[in-house]
Amino acid sequence: MKRLLIALASTFIAFYGNSQSGISIIPQPNTLTPGTGTFVSNASTTIYFDPAFETEAQLLKQWFPKSKLVQSSKSDDATNAIVLKLIYTIRADNGYSLLINPKQIKITASSSEGVFYALQSLRQLLPSTIENKPGGSYKIPAVSIQDAPQYNWRGLHLDVSRHFFAMDYLYKLVDRMSLYKFNKLHLHLTDDQGWRIEIKKYPSLTSQGAWRSLNNQDSGCMKLAKDNPDFTIDPRFIKNKEGKTSYGGFYTQAEMKAFVAYAAKKHIDIIPEIDMPGHMMAAIHAYPYLSCSGGSTWGELFSTPICPGKESTYQFAQDVFSEIMDMFPSEYIHLGADEVDRKAWANSPDCQELMKREGIKTLPELQSYFVRRMEQFFISKGRKLIGWDEILEGGVTPTANVMYWRSWVPDAPIHAAKLGNKVIMSPGNPLYFDNAPDPQSLYNIYHFDVVPKALTAEEGKAIIGAQANLWSEYVPSEARADYLYFPRMISLSERLWSTNRDYTSFQKRLATQFGRLDNMGVKYRLPDVIVPAESLVFVDSALLQIKAPAPGLTLRFTTDGSIPTKTSKLLPTKYVVKKEQMLKLAAFNSNGRKGDVYTLTYQKQTLATPIEAAAKKGLKVDYYKKFYKTVTVLPKEQPDSSFTVPGITVPSYVTAPSFGLVYQGTITVPESGIYTFYFTCDDGGILTIANRLVVDNDGLHAPKEKSGQIALAKGAHPFNLAFIEGGGGYTLKLKYSFNGGEAKEVPESWFGRN
Ligand code: ACM
Repeated sequence: MKRLLIALASTFIAFYGNSQSGISIIPQPNTLTPGTGTFVSNASTTIYFDPAFETEAQLLKQWFPKSKLVQSSKSDDATNAIVLKLIYTIRADNGYSLLINPKQIKITASSSEGVFYALQSLRQLLPSTIENKPGGSYKIPAVSIQDAPQYNWRGLHLDVSRHFFAMDYLYKLVDRMSLYKFNKLHLHLTDDQGWRIEIKKYPSLTSQGAWRSLNNQDSGCMKLAKDNPDFTIDPRFIKNKEGKTSYGGFYTQAEMKAFVAYAAKKHIDIIPEIDMPGHMMAAIHAYPYLSCSGGSTWGELFSTPICPGKESTYQFAQDVFSEIMDMFPSEYIHLGADEVDRKAWANSPDCQELMKREGIKTLPELQSYFVRRMEQFFISKGRKLIGWDEILEGGVTPTANVMYWRSWVPDAPIHAAKLGNKVIMSPGNPLYFDNAPDPQSLYNIYHFDVVPKALTAEEGKAIIGAQANLWSEYVPSEARADYLYFPRMISLSERLWSTNRDYTSFQKRLATQFGRLDNMGVKYRLPDVIVPAESLVFVDSALLQIKAPAPGLTLRFTTDGSIPTKTSKLLPTKYVVKKEQMLKLAAFNSNGRKGDVYTLTYQKQTLATPIEAAAKKGLKVDYYKKFYKTVTVLPKEQPDSSFTVPGITVPSYVTAPSFGLVYQGTITVPESGIYTFYFTCDDGGILTIANRLVVDNDGLHAPKEKSGQIALAKGAHPFNLAFIEGGGGYTLKLKYSFNGGEAKEVPESWFGRN
């Protein structure tokens, strides 16, 4: 489903412990061999550096403030020394070698990038106090590391248009990205809701276009802020302008240039996106002549775009991008070109005339004409164009770079790569970080296919990497952005850097990162609490035993429906339930920061009485070929067709882009007791067994697991599962566990129908 819908956060899983050697680096280096002994730094530690690596030597000195800096390449035998050495034999451009023994720390690389990445590995071998209180003597474990990145595009994106972020946050983000060896920060600088970068030739873009009245996304945030202060709109960007409350802000060119230069020292390219021809309402309001008939309003989904039929549009776009290129030296410049409501072009005499003149037959081709002309301009300035994957629709030049986002068009990156276009992967699932994280997020990111399986090894070279995007409609604060980036971006860092990935090892190493993030002031999402289910049942009594998900965290709870606070009661290790109740619980760290809130409801049930066993295997499925926002309307309508399936799968002949399915029959359980069902769906679903509601996971949302329990006597019970897909790709999974055991697939042999 679309990114504009926020999915709710739920439970999650985490594992803790140190890796065996005590060496814990993310992303995992390609080869790492622990040595013997330690290097001990002290006030007489000397940093020797090759002249090419002066910037890196200065960075290193921040962590060793008492050390002496000496420019020298004759340092091979020096003791109590950290040596940064230029060696052309390191093959990969961004590769490095880091050797630590009791005498020396030696970093060799053929580029300053390589040295910088070596420093980030070294940083993670130093105590986490270097992040806020550097200095003192450190014991650093001996190790030998040879390393280089797997992918060249290791990116994050931030939408600063829908909600604005202070320059200071961008600096922090670059610092945090560099710790995990990211190298691209894509800034979505303009959109319908605000133009955020000074353009000297068109001052109204910011004097007017950077400001807006509060909108319905702001009011959505305000509502959510009642339960979660991270949704509070950053008050620095709310101003009284000419007697009206306005939200906004922008970066000056001077601020942006200084920031880009800072990021360059950390080997992070800032990729600017000026999104056009759609998403231009803020600009069109400031300069109404940019659209075909003047002004911009909302269409069915998107706003009126700028007009590709007028020469004045190209003049404007080239003027804007000229100033952008002056601020941003990056090789790549992003034109956006997503989500265009092209209807206005059909009625425009200017567009019609252009189409006739150029032999353009369709509106997507007209968009391609615009993109092509812009690309020619970019190329004339020595830059490369990136567009969202919609640029494939009306035909694409071989040189355009495609940023893939539409998870529901899985062929787009395959098609682009086969054409030979370079592709950056940022599929909505799992890389739209504005979707709320859940217990599966880290795993899904760690295992996502950067190179689609349908590509050959040769074709796969077209995929230059990936990035995670953070769209800020519902991200009104730095705290919320931190929560959505961390720790998911850490999982992505390893996915994109390391060739020898191991998820179990990653989970252990991740646990050692949180102290460092605390010292860096990152308001990351605390690890998931493992709860048995949200909707629980008991026959006589139940025992709730939940552990804090990490050392140093405590669990607190309420039973009056209120959100737990850092002074709420501690959850006992064994909590006995004898009456129906609702618990709200959350983990808290030592600073009093709260993790996700879990609501556990306990309902008293008797074992449901079995019915007669069904005669046939499988389930009946009713198929509805329509768009639904909720499953609750399905049983009242006539299905388009019905068929049978062996279990909970979506058959290949279900091809409607939006649909509803209702699975009906019986489920036969082998033993009496409490069954937990884990129901993951995108979009909504409701599971009913023995005419009791077990899981309500309804509504339009990203893949989300919800769980519920039911007390069942051995035998057959009525079964009903309703599911809707709104569009954009679906997920449907059902697992169960018995009396608190391990979660397993529901066997097909359990299903029956008459
Ligand atoms: C996008 O999310 N519209 C690129």
